[in-house]
Amino acid sequence: MQKMSSCGRKVHLFILLILGVTLCPLTHTVDLDNIPRRTVPLHDLLDYKQFSHTVYNYTTFWLEEEQGVLYVGARGAIFALNMSDIDDSSMKVIQWEAVTAKRIDCQEKRGHAETDCFNYIRFLKRFNETHLYTCGTYAFHPHCAYIEIENFTLSSTFEGKEKCPYDPTIGYTGLIVDNKIYTATLYKFHGGLADIKRSFQQRSFRMDDSLPYSLNEVNFIDSVLVTESVNSSVGDDDKIYLFFTEKLGEENAFNGKPLVTRVARVCKSDEGGMRTLQRKWTSFLKTRIVCSIPEYGFYFNILRGIYVLNQGSWQSTIFYGVFISQWQNVQTSAVCQYTIADIRKTFEGPFKEDQESPLRWSRYMDKVPEPRPGSCITDEFRRKGFKTSLDLPDIVLDFVKKHPLMDEEVSPVGGHPIFVKKNVNYTKIVVDTITALDEKEYNVMFIGTVDGWLHKVVNIGSSMHMIEEIQLYKEPQPVESLVLASTQRMLYIGSQSAVIQLPLASCRKYSTCFDCVLARDPYCGWDGKACREVQMEKDRSQLIQDIVNGNKGCLDSGADVPLEVMSRRVQRGSDIFLPCRLSSNTAVARWEINEVELRADGGKDYRQGDGGLVVMGVQAADAGDYRCLAQENGVRYAVASYNISVADGLATSPPSPPSLPQRQISKGREFIYLIAIAVLAAVTFVLSTLSVYLFCSPAKRGDYNMRLPRSATVELQNISGSCGGKEEGEGEEGCYSGDRFLKIIPGEGATAGNHRTPAVELLPPPPPPPPLPLPPDPSPSSSTADPAAATTPNGLPGLPHVLRKMNGNSYVLLRQAGETEATSPRYHSFTEELSKMLEKRKHAQLVEKPDESSV
Ligand SMILES: *[C@@H]1O[C@H](CO)[C@@H](O)[C@H](O)[C@H]1NC(C)=O
Ligand SMILES: *[C@@H]1O[C@H](CO)[C@@H](O)[C@H](O)[C@H]1NC(C)=O
Ligand SMILES: *[C@@H]1O[C@H](CO)[C@@H](O)[C@H](O)[C@H]1NC(C)=O
Repeated sequence: MQKMSSCGRKVHLFILLILGVTLCPLTHTVDLDNIPRRTVPLHDLLDYKQFSHTVYNYTTFWLEEEQGVLYVGARGAIFALNMSDIDDSSMKVIQWEAVTAKRIDCQEKRGHAETDCFNYIRFLKRFNETHLYTCGTYAFHPHCAYIEIENFTLSSTFEGKEKCPYDPTIGYTGLIVDNKIYTATLYKFHGGLADIKRSFQQRSFRMDDSLPYSLNEVNFIDSVLVTESVNSSVGDDDKIYLFFTEKLGEENAFNGKPLVTRVARVCKSDEGGMRTLQRKWTSFLKTRIVCSIPEYGFYFNILRGIYVLNQGSWQSTIFYGVFISQWQNVQTSAVCQYTIADIRKTFEGPFKEDQESPLRWSRYMDKVPEPRPGSCITDEFRRKGFKTSLDLPDIVLDFVKKHPLMDEEVSPVGGHPIFVKKNVNYTKIVVDTITALDEKEYNVMFIGTVDGWLHKVVNIGSSMHMIEEIQLYKEPQPVESLVLASTQRMLYIGSQSAVIQLPLASCRKYSTCFDCVLARDPYCGWDGKACREVQMEKDRSQLIQDIVNGNKGCLDSGADVPLEVMSRRVQRGSDIFLPCRLSSNTAVARWEINEVELRADGGKDYRQGDGGLVVMGVQAADAGDYRCLAQENGVRYAVASYNISVADGLATSPPSPPSLPQRQISKGREFIYLIAIAVLAAVTFVLSTLSVYLFCSPAKRGDYNMRLPRSATVELQNISGSCGGKEEGEGEEGCYSGDRFLKIIPGEGATAGNHRTPAVELLPPPPPPPPLPLPPDPSPSSSTADPAAATTPNGLPGLPHVLRKMNGNSYVLLRQAGETEATSPRYHSFTEELSKMLEKRKHAQLVEKPDESSV
């Protein structure tokens, strides 16, 4: 089945999805493809700080907000970083490499796996006032150590195979509670069993392994202490909850998936049994955690990360889990929320039992012995004379040995994921709670992806608004740790190559009132001049913010910064490009010419796209005011404004700008440019064919997040502009100072310059591309060429002197060097050539599209 044509299956799934989406109106609506309002590439990030040293694998974090220190465990080193500025020179480091003898031994045993033979730090936590506790894989000979904080040195190291895994890649989690180290992993080198251990002064406490199904090929994700003894009316114990995925052994199938996610728990005061379960957990119970949308056929069975949102008391604890779907053809991730109350309830419910029948595990229907097996010691136990687990009768302990699995599963809050996103593999999540200007509390999720991006999503009522997606690393790599410092409002991100520090919000990036308010970022508000961080403002009365609707407050005059009008004088007959770069992915551009909205059948050759507007063959009547408006969330706001005046080409030919020597181009070179453009177009075609092919090729399936750039479905007709934006290299000057510029995309190449691995969207992605006004007649006969110009000598306009990349488009900025050239027949033939190409590509897109959706 796995080998079956993935394309065929995709068709199937695609139809199912479409049917599911259109025919099955759900009681709740799950947006399967939340669009990030903003895409923030690395070079646009503000207040971005990065730390890297000579080592790799910055994956184990321990944050001490009060001390202002972020401890980071990497490969062969432990760092103490200044959390205000991780790149600060006050950084301290402990080099802790495995000794050569151990490394050689490791290399001999592991053969080719040389990269594993390092000391990967896997555990790093506070032990007491003066010391940290750390463990590393130490070239497959796990070691632990105390770190003396004052001098930041290792005070003693010792063997650590009871606390740390051998393998740097294996799932692992650990905690320190009351000086006892709780760890859970697969401890042994080969064929070892997974275990949950507690060690205290050389003595270790573990699980019973006499029955094989306590833990079955588990991958531990996280663990957390919930202090349930606090204000407990029943004298309950604190508990350690462990989250992991597990191979299904006891249940035959779960919608065809061999893995499930579980939560297990043990009681802090568990001391084991007297005869049965000696020095072993008497309170180990586990149950399944569900995150699915059965109506859509989505079962998110693999947990990747957990965040515990603790809002005061333990009763209000909420667990946020990020899950991925194992169904690799649809790379989908989801976030589910669970309450501590729901988890407790399943542990108090019925047990499952191995019936040794074809159905195997099913609900245990017989009498459960007293006192209740697997329970922590409560007042009721104490009243009956069971002061500790050592007092528990064998019949209870035997029962819990054979019945570690609960019958009921933990369902998410609301019965379904709170957030789902297609074509993304999430790895880690943190959640911040912030009080916005409306005095309401909002939960903001920061979710890391496997390719090094961060998604910021705010929960508004019953819906989710994706504020932005942020590129964290130049080289795609998984976000492996994510730590939130909520008082400092900082985020720390760990990966293979570096540690990154980012503020929870950079409001400065929103330059207008509309941009600030439409962002619906609870951290940001507009003060009349700039977008500011709400919590930093003493006087908040003047701030404008509208989280709930995301569109109110900016319409009053004076609320926004005035838009600069750019005047441009153009030559009659030439083509002009008016850039209009929308910072929002959810906005659509609309053009107004002399306050009249531009329509598709305006009788002119207009080309409109994301990047701007091209007016072909400008005539005197085209003079006037051009305004680009962004339409978003029910409001329209001006983004760019131009005043165009048209000059007669022959009568008033001003000299070329001195900075631009008129280039005389030989026919040979002109030919070369045309060839080059044709080659680029061919490359584009090959690349898009290739990406379709790769998408269908089973060999290429895997954990990669394959997707086209978001703009893929719209970019062909677009003339992507970036002038006026923050494009490097080319300032405003380069775009507007010259007389006229024409920008054309000769070929975008799905892979070119994009930060993502290309792929094909499974579903036609919203939002719809901006409507493309079709030119009335693209044939040369309708060309607006001035007949007189035919006699003008000199071939091409200037060289395509800038070739840049942006959002996956490489495009040529064409500079028209002089008036005479611009109106020359060659010039027209050149632009015609290009416009034909644009047309062709548009058609190519139309042909490609059915293929794309049929796979
Ligand atoms: C550590 O980082 C290196 C370099 O990026 C990478 O090749 C390796 O897979 C990483 N190892 C682990 C265990 O993450
Ligand atoms: C940490 O950085 C902040 C800001 O750069 C600085 O004020 C502080 O003194 C630094 N702390 C230490 C311990 O160096
Ligand atoms: C913390 O633990 C270390 C290691 O066991 C020990 O040497 C040190 O004295 C302890 N410090 C305190 C304050 O208890």
